[in-house]
Amino acid sequence: MFFKWKDNFSVGIEVIDKQHRMFLEQLNSYHEKISEHLDSKTVAEFIDNLKAYVNIHFRYEEALMREHNYPQYYAHHQHHQYFVSRIIKFEESANKGDVRSIESMMEFMRDWFINHILQVDKEFVLSLSKGELQPPVRRYPPKRR
Ligand SMILES: [Fe+2]
Repeated sequence: MFFKWKDNFSVGIEVIDKQHRMFLEQLNSYHEKISEHLDSKTVAEFIDNLKAYVNIHFRYEEALMREHNYPQYYAHHQHHQYFVSRIIKFEESANKGDVRSIESMMEFMRDWFINHILQVDKEFVLSLSKGELQPPVRRYPPKRR
């Protein structure tokens, strides 16, 4: 298997763990498809799914951080942005017909994801569970009567 789940990948927040597993499954499934037959249609489909996924997943994490006024929010957001920028770059070359780097792209994604979960995501969840962060801020307080 290209990307195998390990118990220490779990950050302890069920929704986030589920989303991380979804990424792993997506990467594995496309890695298998692509190693059987590499064609631009599958690559385009992979990129589309990936973009939809990161949009949901990164937004979820970032919303949670903002809600709790996480001081490292911006740095974490930058990590996510870097990952997105790599996808866009890859998409650009794939659109020009160059899909040969897909294997190394997938390796990069797997390694980035593992490091990101183990260091950056866990750091956030740790601060959250230690109660270091502020309680959720209600951004739209109910109107006073
Ligand atoms: Fe993250």
